[in-house]
Amino acid sequence: MSAVPVLLDFPPGLVAAGAADGSWRRLAVADDLPPGSLTRFTFGDLDLLLAHTSMGMCLTDDRCPHMAAPLSMGSLDECKVACPLHRGEFDLASGETVQFPTTGGLDADGAYHAPWAPAGSPDKPEPTDLKARARAGTRIRRLRYYPLRVRDGIIEARLPG
Ligand code: FES
Repeated sequence: MSAVPVLLDFPPGLVAAGAADGSWRRLAVADDLPPGSLTRFTFGDLDLLLAHTSMGMCLTDDRCPHMAAPLSMGSLDECKVACPLHRGEFDLASGETVQFPTTGGLDADGAYHAPWAPAGSPDKPEPTDLKARARAGTRIRRLRYYPLRVRDGIIEARLPG
């Protein structure tokens, strides 16, 4: 028999809106979600990401906290998920940004971070036109989580509604 999967102990203040009072829904067989996997689940208009991190499984929105790209198309390194769109990286254990997107922008507390360019690319200028200023004014929020539990080898999630 398989070992009971470990669930990541996410920060208590970061429960997704409506999840604390939601209902439990079946997600998947735990054995089908190997360590290192990023799996997308969709319920109506809710797209969810189940990440099997080095500290256990967690469930968050499958929307980058920057500009909503699907994190399930990114990569996972221990607890750090990387977004495929602007190279933002987010720590699933803390809910915090660990690498700002190349566009720069505002962090969760509203502090400004300048645009940056990967090594070997031309420097990105500070924003001046409207589109660039809109990117610079985009706030990157902390990740939000949906509670998980395991019953008879099945992963269940507590979802709004
Ligand atoms: S949408 Fe993910 S880093 Fe920009």
